[in-house]
Amino acid sequence: MSPSYTRTEPIVAKEGWGCYVRDVDGNVLLDLTSGMFVLNYGYSHPKLIRAVERQATKLTHFAGTDFYYEAQVELAERLVAITPGKFAKRVYFGNSGAESVEAAFKCARWHTRRPRMIAYTGAFHGRTFGAMSLSSMNALHHRYFAPLVPGVSFMPYPYCYRCPFGQSYPGCDFLCFEFIREYIQKVIPPEEVAAVITEPIQGGSGYIIPPPEYYPMLKELCEKHDWLFIADEIQTGLGRTGEMFAMKHWKVVPDIVCIAKALAGGMAPIGATITSAKIMDWEPGAHASTFGGNLIACAAALEGLNILEKQKLVHRAAELGKLALKRLQELAEGSRFIGEVRGKGLLLAVEMIKDGRTKERAIKERNAVVREALNRGLIVFRGGRSVIRIAPPLTINRRELELGLDIFGEALREVERKC
Ligand SMILES: Cc1ncc(COP(=O)(O)O)c(C=O)c1O
Repeated sequence: MSPSYTRTEPIVAKEGWGCYVRDVDGNVLLDLTSGMFVLNYGYSHPKLIRAVERQATKLTHFAGTDFYYEAQVELAERLVAITPGKFAKRVYFGNSGAESVEAAFKCARWHTRRPRMIAYTGAFHGRTFGAMSLSSMNALHHRYFAPLVPGVSFMPYPYCYRCPFGQSYPGCDFLCFEFIREYIQKVIPPEEVAAVITEPIQGGSGYIIPPPEYYPMLKELCEKHDWLFIADEIQTGLGRTGEMFAMKHWKVVPDIVCIAKALAGGMAPIGATITSAKIMDWEPGAHASTFGGNLIACAAALEGLNILEKQKLVHRAAELGKLALKRLQELAEGSRFIGEVRGKGLLLAVEMIKDGRTKERAIKERNAVVREALNRGLIVFRGGRSVIRIAPPLTINRRELELGLDIFGEALREVERKC
């Protein structure tokens, strides 16, 4: 198999249920990452399995971008209804997060006829050429792949804990935002920019949450220059942050929304790009995919949305998230390694440092905590350079969540004892 896969932890999974996985040696692990932010409804949700079985016995494939079938149209209607903005919308279906971003990128260029894009430092949008060209999380992702898609400019992401301008929020005059204004005065003509793409909360870089003022200011700037506002909600969307879409926390309606990961609850790959009918005005053949929005994925996604609604999982994520955040903050008070705890809903992060004054990153210690947790039967995941990400299934119950956080605390204390 390709050695390019990262394979950060040595887990060989065999079966899963709820928020648990059993490995090939029979160990049971509590997964607080939802199988990498995909299994929002947990492993093997019986309703999802039945929905897939029902669909599989009827029809598994029909060329969905050449002909029609009902499930795809029905899913498009459901997605249009839940995405922000009261205007006529259209949906493009792909097979992954990266494809959802590719579609947004191509659609933005097609609609505006403008060549440039604005993206952010620390962003991760996927590994295909377009998505990779909009990403800047790790130089390793770009090494030897240049030339990338031209015309992308990276702006400093509002990472208040490590302000790129050495300021502290509040009282910082938003120098990170002023940088964009200056850039379009001195470097790129604003009328050449098609769109700005942002993860509402940066995922791979360690759940970095911009301050409340940031996105409303950005939206205003987009409107001023006719730039499209693209929200990559691939990790944050579909209830994860305690809102259906994370951008709602900033009360901003994006022009284009990208979703993938949790959409079909891990039953089948799918991605979707949702925008207004006015913006998605490209001609037949401009963009398509053989498997995009295939029948099995659509059946699972439709059932997933039913589960999300019936079990009130968005509200649940908000409530359980408050509890988890409080527990992690308590843990931070007694820990010399935790610099910051942050989160919205069930998207939580712990940033580890060696020294409270210099904020030197505790990389080795972070890796040790992740491994120690694993040895104790708990899966948490790395983010950024010294962050641990916690994002359990939205169906997790309070007892399981508390158990997971207890194990996490034990792993942290063990590493603190040893280091
Ligand atoms: C915010 C974000 N965008 C895009 C992607 C790419 O998704 P995929 O791996 O499905 O192509 C990811 C994957 O981690 C992501 O977290």
